[in-house]
Amino acid sequence: MAADTTTATAPDPRGSGAGAPVLVIDEVGKRYGGVQAVDGISLTLHAGERIGVIGPNGAGKTTLFKMIAGDVIPTSGSIQLFAKDVTRIGAARRARMGVGRTFQISNLFRDMTVLDNVRVAARGGSAKARVFWWPQRANDAVSNRAIDALAQVGLHGRRDDIVSDLSHGEQRQLEIAMALVGEPQILLLDEPAAGLSAVERVTLKQLIEELPRTLPILLIEHDMSLALGLTDRVMCMENGRHVVTGTPDEVRSNETVKEIYLGRRDKR
Ligand SMILES: Nc1ncnc2c1ncn2[C@@H]1O[C@H](COP(=O)(O)OP(=O)(O)O)[C@@H](O)[C@H]1O
Ligand SMILES: [Mg+2]
Repeated sequence: MAADTTTATAPDPRGSGAGAPVLVIDEVGKRYGGVQAVDGISLTLHAGERIGVIGPNGAGKTTLFKMIAGDVIPTSGSIQLFAKDVTRIGAARRARMGVGRTFQISNLFRDMTVLDNVRVAARGGSAKARVFWWPQRANDAVSNRAIDALAQVGLHGRRDDIVSDLSHGEQRQLEIAMALVGEPQILLLDEPAAGLSAVERVTLKQLIEELPRTLPILLIEHDMSLALGLTDRVMCMENGRHVVTGTPDEVRSNETVKEIYLGRRDKR
């Protein structure tokens, strides 16, 4: 089936208050050998908007996320960020353009304090080598930004604790703080709730809900209830392809989505 093109032209469910597009994904595809991981996906994220991308394991969500973040270059289609074509631009440059993102595989320095992890992120480093290049003196501005970011995710009181002492849920909160400290213009979250307990999910949901509405968010999430509860619009994918894009209510009541999520039991 040809990729769905209605998403780009459909009226915005938020009405006339729709902001300018910040992210335009146009017919993007990624092939790995014989596997078409993502197949002609189109999606536009507007200023102030929160979009969820859902789908079962293997749907192509993480591959799509990596193409948006710049980790993976598409084999077809194009991606625009802030009205600039970034299809072939790498992750580091996209980060400097204002893309904040979390990693599905934890990227934390486990033997360092919570605050120092956010300081590393504030200095633009996820590369471990950068740690050793720092001056010893504390940089007040960086520390203040890091403390603000920790407050935003509810980890202010744990700033001097060692990361390995945090619960799984708190480590996820920390990863979000590390994305926020760069003062991103767009936030990409890849399965933030994966592996969390029910209680941890509630905490995570609250903190995402309370992020400033001015920050556009693209949330990739296997957990349908979390994605539907946090976003203005949702796209469902399966086998790399677009299934439906709509409001959370529209997606919740979509027959194909119901089949995908209820008809099958894939564990996650
Ligand atoms: N680096 C890779 N090399 C080969 N195949 C891959 C690679 N990454 C993902 N795939 C395949 O692409 C498909 C989509 O994977 P993925 O994007 O991880 O889906 P999801 O995040 O929705 O579970 C799967 O069939 C997966 O095996
Ligand atoms: Mg994934």
